[in-house]
Amino acid sequence: MKKLENIEYNCKEIQSKIMGPNPIKLLIELLSNNCIAKNGYVCDLGCGKGVSSVYLANEFGFKVYATDICINPRKNKVFFENMGFSQNEIVPVLADANKLPFKKNFFDGIISIDSYNYFGCNSKYLDNNLLSFLKKGGYVYISVPVTNKNFPGQYSPEVLSVWSQNQLNTIHDIKYWKNLISCCRKAEIVDIYEMKSSEEAWSDWLKQNNKYAKQDCIAIEAGARNYLTFIAIVLRKVND
Ligand SMILES: C[S@@+](CC[C@H](N)C(=O)[O-])C[C@H]1O[C@@H](n2cnc3c(N)ncnc32)[C@H](O)[C@@H]1O
Repeated sequence: MKKLENIEYNCKEIQSKIMGPNPIKLLIELLSNNCIAKNGYVCDLGCGKGVSSVYLANEFGFKVYATDICINPRKNKVFFENMGFSQNEIVPVLADANKLPFKKNFFDGIISIDSYNYFGCNSKYLDNNLLSFLKKGGYVYISVPVTNKNFPGQYSPEVLSVWSQNQLNTIHDIKYWKNLISCCRKAEIVDIYEMKSSEEAWSDWLKQNNKYAKQDCIAIEAGARNYLTFIAIVLRKVND
């Protein structure tokens, strides 16, 4: 299958598939010091409609397992083929991050953009579950939404009118994630930091012409922009 030489990530076809703050902008920063080798096997966990999976295959030459709990893998397959990738290069997988269908020690890297907060808020998740699918020496790269120091401690009625309390319960601060990740015994923390690309990633999302982006605009304009950001978490597996 012929590859597209240069994929225009800002094109309508790709941007219409983002499901939140621009995953490409977050990935560029998250992988600026990438340690996963070209041709490595990578799980794109919570890949949504597969935008990040195309970027990972195209820019880094990874073999990507595009994994999500509720996005139709047949639709993702059509998108990947339209972008020039066969099912051997990007594999669409329908799976719950808590019950992954992969072999132990299979991946060289696990990457998760704007989704880890939905399944990773359990201090045992890394050691007892996710890291078993990663080779020793492999890397985990996570970009997750958090509140920052401007968060007033509670959400306004405008924010609560568009985001459910269940959704908001998954948003924590950087201290929470540092504490949670420091419980992990099988991986060392390479880095945890607030991301500079958050602002731009949010702006790109809010320009989208869909009902979810329009709803998010209400919360953002009600002040959420001031206190929501992203952090990057980078881990290396050191023990089986
Ligand atoms: C905000 S969307 C982000 C999607 C994509 N990464 C992006 O940036 O466009 C969060 C994604 O996480 C997925 N997700 C939530 N819980 C999951 C789970 N337990 N296992 C796998 N995926 C999950 C959702 O289905 C959704 O596609």
